[in-house]
Amino acid sequence: MEKTFLMVKPDGVQRNLIGDITSRFEKKGYKLAGAKLMTIKEALAEEHYGEHSDKPFFGELVGFITSGPVFAMVWEGENVIATARQMMGATNPKDAAAGTIRGDYGVTVGKNVIHGSDSSESADREIKLFFDKAELITYEKDN
Ligand code: CMP
Repeated sequence: MEKTFLMVKPDGVQRNLIGDITSRFEKKGYKLAGAKLMTIKEALAEEHYGEHSDKPFFGELVGFITSGPVFAMVWEGENVIATARQMMGATNPKDAAAGTIRGDYGVTVGKNVIHGSDSSESADREIKLFFDKAELITYEKDN
């Protein structure tokens, strides 16, 4: 079954949004395969965001994501990668529709509350970067 990597960013943790965000994916019907509150070291942040290393905001991006705890998750379900992106809304909260996570809670493109994998290749890479195999739980879930 398809899996994606989602992460409540430091602004979302600070603003007590872990519960709301987790609840949206639970209610949608996806299955939580793993989750942890963690701080990200600079080396992990640079690897995770490697595709943006030549962007002018790279330093800001790494600085922000390492600035406080994040809530890292793996969610499982049919078409979960694309649907989670729809539920998150556009990267820049000013363009994100009301009812999406960023549309409801985000204000700036840097502090946009949540990260989610944008393709199956990214999901595989990001899940492996953040989770050991033993941290991902396999179990039966009807709905
Ligand atoms: P995310 O989905 O985590 O992937 C890359 C991140 O870069 C993106 O969310 C934004 O938070 C961030 N980002 C994109 N553009 C900018 C920018 N102009 N300034 C700061 N951060 C940015």
